[in-house]
Amino acid sequence: MDKVGGVIVAAGRGERMGAPINKAFLPLGGRPLFLHSVLTFEAAPAVDTYVVVSHPEDAAFCRALLAPYGLRKLVAVVDGGAIRQESAAAGVRSLPDVCCLVAVHDAARPLLSLELLQGAVERARDGSRSSSPGTGPATLGAALVVAVPAKETIKLVDESGQVRDTPDRRRLWAAQTPQIFRRDLLLRAYAEAERDGFVGTDDASLVERLGAPVEVYQGEYGNIKVTTPEDWRMAQALLEQRALVVPVSAERGFVPAAAAVAAPGSVASGLARPASVRVGIGYDVHPFDSGRPLFLGGVEIPEGPGLAGHSDADVALHALMDACLGAAGLRDIGQHFPPGDPRWKDAPSLALLASVRSMLEAAGYTVNQVDLAIAAETPRLAPYVERMQQRIGVVLGIPPGNVGIKATTSEGLGFVGRKEGIAVWAIATVVNG
Ligand code: CTP
Ligand code: MG
Repeated sequence: MDKVGGVIVAAGRGERMGAPINKAFLPLGGRPLFLHSVLTFEAAPAVDTYVVVSHPEDAAFCRALLAPYGLRKLVAVVDGGAIRQESAAAGVRSLPDVCCLVAVHDAARPLLSLELLQGAVERARDGSRSSSPGTGPATLGAALVVAVPAKETIKLVDESGQVRDTPDRRRLWAAQTPQIFRRDLLLRAYAEAERDGFVGTDDASLVERLGAPVEVYQGEYGNIKVTTPEDWRMAQALLEQRALVVPVSAERGFVPAAAAVAAPGSVASGLARPASVRVGIGYDVHPFDSGRPLFLGGVEIPEGPGLAGHSDADVALHALMDACLGAAGLRDIGQHFPPGDPRWKDAPSLALLASVRSMLEAAGYTVNQVDLAIAAETPRLAPYVERMQQRIGVVLGIPPGNVGIKATTSEGLGFVGRKEGIAVWAIATVVNG
């Protein structure tokens, strides 16, 4: 039986959303936008395996958000390209060779239902069986685009704003994703589009250029594309209406990693829990190392210099993890991520923070609010603070307003003042349950 591979493209910048981070990672209904599609692909029996395509700058962040979910079918997080078409092509090319059918889906459509994905893949599978590869365009089957009949009358308008035509609405459909293709056909479509310098707004249009038949499959009007803040509000309303908003407690319960931390006899299980709110403090210092990239608060700062130390040496996240662990009585990061362990060499600290969140939740705690003070003489951190708040907030499952970040210099005094390194203090408040 042909294997089916999924490609979830999330490598855009989300510029029209106007948020400080890619819309794909903003929390919608309790989880980052792109995770809605990821979990749907993970749950669909018709999909055997899939990849997520992210912007190279977001790759570590993206992996950190995926890590706690224990996704069995996810094979890779792949770097995308400058335009959607390149991202989708990179994803399709990275799928295992056994995948003869591919379903390409925009992460920006978080409301894709399991039924629609299943139905569309099964239909494409039937189509691919009835066509034979390599027999010329006329018989190429298994290209299917999920679409909905246009409800509005669509006008064709020229550059001067004059209506030129009113196509018959009965023949107009609005294309959505997923779009499903025989893989060899889609790879050929990408190659020919690249050769001709053709850019299409969806994958089907590239296949249509080959003269191959493309079938529509009735989609759902609720499978909207989230592009602007208005779409965002619409998606939120639809999620609520479908009762798909995962209550925060249930969502947190889904995170499976590191349950062992709270196993009987562990530090966590021995805790008395008299207070509903607990506070933890963390402090960390790392010396500069100009040979490494600088990561601070989960954000890469190109000005550098980098820092020496454990994992990616993100001293701010290290202090923060210690604060979170301390608040829950779970010792410190050295205990959970020993520095000598090769698994943590250059590891993104955001991924470690995601594991820390899981550890706290397994022990019955949820992070409520965190606050960091970063002492650095260089570089200037103000331009990055908002992104740090957003990223930390998404990983910890709290609003960015609950992530305090203050950067200060040390007025030339001490080791910070002499530009020998960066020091960070962090506190975290956690609540039971
Ligand atoms: N996409 C991608 N690679 C790109 C551009 C877009 O993988 N170079 C993805 C987006 O992440 C999104 C989907 O393609 O899931 C549809 O694109 P769009 O809604 O336009 O998202 P963005 O490009 O991120 O948004 P904007 O155009 O507003 O910047
Ligand atoms: Mg775009």
